Amino acid sequence: MENIDGAIYRLKDLGRLALGRGEIAVEEMASFISWLVRDSQISADELEKMESGGVVKNYNPPNIFIERAEGDFIYGKNGRQWADFQSAYSANNLGNRNARITGAANWAQAMSSVLSRARKSPQLALLGGEITRLFGPNYKMLPMNSGCEASEGACILAKLAFNRHPRFEERRNKMREKGVTPKVIFAKRNFHGRSFWAKATSSSPEYKDPFAPLTMEQEMRMVEFGNIDDIKEALKDDDVYAIMLEPIQGEGGVNVPPENYLKQVRQLCDEHNVLLVLDEVQCGLGRAGALLAQHNFGVEADFTALGKSLSGGILPASMVLMKKEYGDLIRPGEHGSTFGGSPIACAIMRASLKEMEDRRLRDASRENGGFFIEQLREVCKDLPYVKEVRGMGLMIGIEVTALDTENICQKFRESSFVYRGKKIEGVWTNSTHSGKNTVIRVTPPLTMDRGLLRASVYAFAKALGHKNPEKFRAYDLEKPETISERISSVTKGVQYYARRILNH
Ligand SMILES: Cc1ncc(COP(=O)(O)O)c(C=O)c1O
Repeated sequence: MENIDGAIYRLKDLGRLALGRGEIAVEEMASFISWLVRDSQISADELEKMESGGVVKNYNPPNIFIERAEGDFIYGKNGRQWADFQSAYSANNLGNRNARITGAANWAQAMSSVLSRARKSPQLALLGGEITRLFGPNYKMLPMNSGCEASEGACILAKLAFNRHPRFEERRNKMREKGVTPKVIFAKRNFHGRSFWAKATSSSPEYKDPFAPLTMEQEMRMVEFGNIDDIKEALKDDDVYAIMLEPIQGEGGVNVPPENYLKQVRQLCDEHNVLLVLDEVQCGLGRAGALLAQHNFGVEADFTALGKSLSGGILPASMVLMKKEYGDLIRPGEHGSTFGGSPIACAIMRASLKEMEDRRLRDASRENGGFFIEQLREVCKDLPYVKEVRGMGLMIGIEVTALDTENICQKFRESSFVYRGKKIEGVWTNSTHSGKNTVIRVTPPLTMDRGLLRASVYAFAKALGHKNPEKFRAYDLEKPETISERISSVTKGVQYYARRILNH
């Protein structure tokens, strides 16, 4: 039978869950199993027909169905295996199907389903405790669902703070007297999501033109990302209440600003009594080698949008993190969502934050990212069509000229290598979306081990057309793990969990 591995895998997983909860009688289980087996036998062509018949083509992925994903790998039919260098746009920062987060999610959903914020949930309170532990007592958060809701929510709440906090009284009275429309400064090449608001902030015609007119544009000013003079100019009319930026632009091409840029922006915000809102939905929570990417630049935002990584890759879970003095201004009913802060989402967010901290993934991201950027730069240094390899932590971009990035990503996927005795089909990356489509995003899970990173450099070198890719081949990692290596890695795992248990 085609696909037997995938079918058995899912059977075990779902069967254990269903039987464990006592919700399915044995005879029902049999028909459940046969349904699952049938479902896993459907051919790729049939799946393709069903998808194109019933699903709008708002994405254009490679024509490969991914049946399962585990840790650093994603698997297609017949057990084909790719190293995951995309991490579902950083939603899988903690590795695919992270066991601890899946466990937390299962535990929470065994206790209750969505309660709505009209009823109190211990999971929400516990998440609050985790936020205080991680960010200190001067921060609070408001839970949301998608990244877009969090980034737009951060902007909405900044406006509330500006309208209500005594600090801004003089500035807002001046604006009222002058009769100006209060504005937010955004950077070109940003990406904040897909709502009408987010589309209006965008400088990518393909994101916004089909939806014109976008009336919120009159509440926005656009500046060049990284150009402090542009912000000074935009502040001249005294009609701005917030500046909203990504500390490192993700979709816009993995753009890292000049070293002092964010510090200067913070200074300007303080001088002008303007709020600083940072969108860290993609670059936050370890991706850029720090708890928050803003910490790399020595700044603290008034409002920060977080998402993706918080979700543990399981379901949408996001939040607006804000300074307590602004959080305390929000009154019941002024902002929220039915699903935001549900027990399962809170359990997932809490487990994700703990997992990141307990496994020191921000350090791993910084160290492994530094190593990997260096390796990629070495691969690319004599390639005339690679303009730059840039990034921070494991948020890495390869900018190419005169090459089709989709084509390169396909070559990456087909650039096979051997790792620990197994054939890996290639490395799965994707290009960033907005702008000119010239940047390939290299964002493996933060949990990816150094060995796999090292072994995959060979695949990058081959696919990028290096003259001598063998130079980057990690022969030592091609052999299957020896028994003593296996024992040593299992021992490390046991030690890690033992330490965790003892610390509780
Ligand atoms: C910086 C940033 N903000 C917001 C979003 C939107 O997140 P979501 O797709 O979860 O709505 C994204 C998604 O890529 C992002 O990169």
